[in-house]
Amino acid sequence: MSTLLHIDSSPLYGRSVSRELTAAFVTEWKVRHADGKVIDRDLNATEIPPINAEWVGAVYTPEGARTPKQKELLSLSDALLAELEQADEYVIGVPMHNFGVPSVLKLWIDQIARVGRTFSYADGRPKGLIKGKKATFIIATGGMYDPQTRMASFNFVEPYLRSVFGFLGVTDATFLTAGGTSVLNHGHDRKAFLAPHLQAVQTHAQTSQEVPA
Ligand SMILES: Cc1cc2nc3c(=O)[nH]c(=O)nc-3n(C[C@H](O)[C@H](O)[C@H](O)COP(=O)(O)O)c2cc1C
Repeated sequence: MSTLLHIDSSPLYGRSVSRELTAAFVTEWKVRHADGKVIDRDLNATEIPPINAEWVGAVYTPEGARTPKQKELLSLSDALLAELEQADEYVIGVPMHNFGVPSVLKLWIDQIARVGRTFSYADGRPKGLIKGKKATFIIATGGMYDPQTRMASFNFVEPYLRSVFGFLGVTDATFLTAGGTSVLNHGHDRKAFLAPHLQAVQTHAQTSQEVPA
């Protein structure tokens, strides 16, 4: 049985482009994995505190030596890591906020990037420990950041996600971007705007997944 971890991070819910596109991916995935399991992790509905000195101390304390308080401090991180480990595949919706990822997604990344769990420094070199997973990032941006344009260097979303997930071992990653969503605030027809992006998501979902026997 396959498991998909579905993460959203847009605060806009019904108006969100990334949420609508990840939902389309999930629908298509379910068609192809009739007995599959989907874990929904809505980061706007998850209370994730910023990491602090105690949390870092707990992470760097060997597991067997952790105090009950340290274990409690890491319990949310453990639960989020369990979702990552349990899933074979990830679909992650990402609105661009201030040229980067939304703060709730950064808070989640801070919880799951854990030495000894998702990366290590074996032989002094960083090694990603999340292996054999496939990730699809669905990004929505108000402006356009096409390569070779003046604005490309302002896009810290895809380069950051590619780097941090690659560092953690997730190298089979696809990035689909719906750029220029700001036209929707100026009377542009939402259905017409979304149509090619929904098509791209569906095509990707169909072509990247084998149909289970
Ligand atoms: C707080 C905030 C910050 C934003 N910052 C940017 C930005 O830096 N660049 C940009 O192109 N669009 C920016 N936008 C527009 C969003 O990227 C755009 O609305 C996109 O569709 C968000 O994804 P969503 O529809 O899934 O929420 C911002 C929107 C919000 C709410």
